[in-house]
Amino acid sequence: MLLFLSFLACLSFTVGKHEIYDGHALFEVQIQNAEQMDYINSLEVPLQIDIWTYAAPGGQAAVLVPKNNVERFQYQLFSYGIQFRMDVENIKILLDEEERLMNEARRKGTNKNGGSKIGFDRIYNLTEVYTYLEDIAENNPDLVTLVNAGKSFEGRDVKYLKISTTNFEDKRKPVVVLQSLLHSREWVTLPPSLYAIENLVVNGTDRDLVDEIDWIIFPIANPDGYEYSQTEVRFWRKNRATGYIPGDICTGVDLNRNFDIFWGDYSSNNVCSETFHGSGPFSEPEARIVADILHEYNSRIELFIDLHSTGSMIIYGWGTGDLPPNAFLMHAAAIKMATAIDAVKVSWNPNYRVGNVALIMYKASGVTMDYGMKLGIPYSYVYELPRHRNSTGIDRFLVDPAFVHQAAFETWEGIKEGARYVRDKLILN
Ligand SMILES: *[C@@H]1O[C@H](CO)[C@@H](O)[C@H](O)[C@H]1NC(C)=O
Ligand SMILES: *[C@@H]1O[C@H](CO)[C@@H](O)[C@H](O)[C@H]1NC(C)=O
Ligand SMILES: *[C@@H]1O[C@H](CO)[C@@H](O)[C@H](O)[C@H]1NC(C)=O
Ligand SMILES: [Zn+2]
Repeated sequence: MLLFLSFLACLSFTVGKHEIYDGHALFEVQIQNAEQMDYINSLEVPLQIDIWTYAAPGGQAAVLVPKNNVERFQYQLFSYGIQFRMDVENIKILLDEEERLMNEARRKGTNKNGGSKIGFDRIYNLTEVYTYLEDIAENNPDLVTLVNAGKSFEGRDVKYLKISTTNFEDKRKPVVVLQSLLHSREWVTLPPSLYAIENLVVNGTDRDLVDEIDWIIFPIANPDGYEYSQTEVRFWRKNRATGYIPGDICTGVDLNRNFDIFWGDYSSNNVCSETFHGSGPFSEPEARIVADILHEYNSRIELFIDLHSTGSMIIYGWGTGDLPPNAFLMHAAAIKMATAIDAVKVSWNPNYRVGNVALIMYKASGVTMDYGMKLGIPYSYVYELPRHRNSTGIDRFLVDPAFVHQAAFETWEGIKEGARYVRDKLILN
């Protein structure tokens, strides 16, 4: 009887968790010109739609629409002459399935190469990741330093790892910075960061990368948002800042619009928007912490990679669409990284595309990647990881646990290529 009751309790918990998404439909929208993307953007707050991916002309945007506005959304697009199709009729069904698969993987617990607390069989939560970071620093004191960089809006610790055979004291070595989960719902970006740590620290298969490069790996750049996406609202993207509107009917700042570079030019001043830029440049503690890291090692950072999802793209600035003087070199290095990933990707995912963010997606301001460029980092990128879908129907922000290892493995191929590229360039200079 007790067993039966706890079974029921589990069931109702699972069912209750994604209730807010019941009837939310996901649309794929064919974008023919920039005005159409602008138009969809203008519907964001009034129709409470959530634009998952922006698209340049010729591309497809993905838009999540709440149940009550599904009809109106379709009518508006139809009137405006925009082509679309419904991709997922009720996203809650996929949310429940993702959770079921994650729980199943957790129960099996088959991973842990060599006693490690982390595996590549599923997505790990904040507590698990922080425990792992502490363990790996404790067990490898000569190589790894765990930095407590400050507090998030809600007071969580913000932690990152420094990996160096010379305690960051050899100034000739280039520094590579890898960041994930600035947008908390983009769960698939976490495994590649953890995979990088495992490879550099535990496996030792890429010895040259440890010996000749200093690494900063920042797996959870938005801890409040990440915890919230794990426990409450799966598609939470922003941080958890409050106080921007009476009664906090909307909360959170898009950290990737909060940086002091073109701040406010291509972002929203409405807190109900997913691209709300905050009250000013660096109004948010999480963005300031990233900026502090970039400032501290600025002169030595040769490569900065900010992992996002989805779309199989490697993109560079500026977010305004203007090209920096080294755009050609950045493009060439991006192609090398993309080619390395494409060589090992799964056959059903498309090849990576490479280009300026405004040309292949949409204009954006206040982004971390551009702030890195502003500081003079020569190679500053966003990876948009692939959307993986097979028979489970799970893709985009939703993660099939069976894809976690592949996502980590293939992305690491690109990161390694980039790291070796900047190292070799430095030696040649
Ligand atoms: C994170 O995972 C651990 C171990 O699986 C679990 O005990 C803990 O409750 C989880 N935390 C949250 C906030 O879900
Ligand atoms: C570490 O090496 C082992 C054996 O070569 C391999 O099976 C495993 O996938 C590697 N782990 C990572 C994170 O690369
Ligand atoms: C695809 O879907 C099946 C379930 O139908 C699953 O067993 C498999 O592991 C999934 N993932 C991949 C990467 O093939
Ligand atoms: Zn993102």
